[in-house]
Amino acid sequence: VGNPTCGDVLFIYIKVKKDKIEKIKFKTFGCPAAISVSDMVCDLAKGKTINEAKKITNKLIAEKLQGLPKLKYHCSLLGEQALLAAIKDYEKKNK
Ligand code: FES
Repeated sequence: VGNPTCGDVLFIYIKVKKDKIEKIKFKTFGCPAAISVSDMVCDLAKGKTINEAKKITNKLIAEKLQGLPKLKYHCSLLGEQALLAAIKDYEKKNK
């Protein structure tokens, strides 16, 4: 997913086994906050079931990073959206 305003792009890759996210990696082209968010999303989602991972919100990500500056709050949204995009892609391919 990307943010057209700042131009940052975030990719999340997941490997799912028995409904659990066994492996998760990211590739982020963006600001330091976006990179921190990517790393935190991976930490939060690893080992979770698909349904548990869907509940990871940008608010939780920012909270776990002990807050983000107001101007960088949208970076956490990018993390949430990238995880959901990876999950949707997984679900689409595994119907
Ligand atoms: Fe846009 Fe960080 S400045 S994602």
